[in-house]
Amino acid sequence: MPPATPERILVLVKPDAVERRLTGEILRRIEAKGYDLVALKVVVPTAEVLEAHYAEHVSKPFYPSVVGYMTRGPVVAAVVEGHRVVEGVRSLMGSTEPTLSAPGTIRGDLGRDWGTPAMENLVHGSDSPDSAAREIGIWFPELDG
Ligand code: TYD
Ligand code: MG
Repeated sequence: MPPATPERILVLVKPDAVERRLTGEILRRIEAKGYDLVALKVVVPTAEVLEAHYAEHVSKPFYPSVVGYMTRGPVVAAVVEGHRVVEGVRSLMGSTEPTLSAPGTIRGDLGRDWGTPAMENLVHGSDSPDSAAREIGIWFPELDG
């Protein structure tokens, strides 16, 4: 039996991307690939939400700079749906560090190193269907399942 709902991913358009008016461009690439937007909102994250979201990174040396970066302004949070959407969106995003991300990707085409302590890389996407379910629960507690 196929799953009751297609695969989902949590996408965050990060503050640097919102500041640079790249929200539309980033969502456009995801939509143009063929995935469905199923939830969308603008939110300034709290430290508590970030601690839950970045649970795997809280003890790492770069974490405090990530919190400063991610709380400096609004992010656009989205739930995106489709078969193999996690692999697909991660591929669209490119690798973590924008300087080294492949041209053709969101980070590779639109991002660079700005010399700031936090790695400003424009976008977040969950790294597995299990991570997506966990993260969607954090950012969209109002959604079922
Ligand atoms: P990670 O989950 O490794 O990357 P990705 O976003 O590609 O899944 O890291 C989460 C975020 O933490 C990353 O987007 C930027 C930040 N970060 C740093 O600031 N410095 C680092 O050395 C790493 C690995 C991540
Ligand atoms: Mg990650």
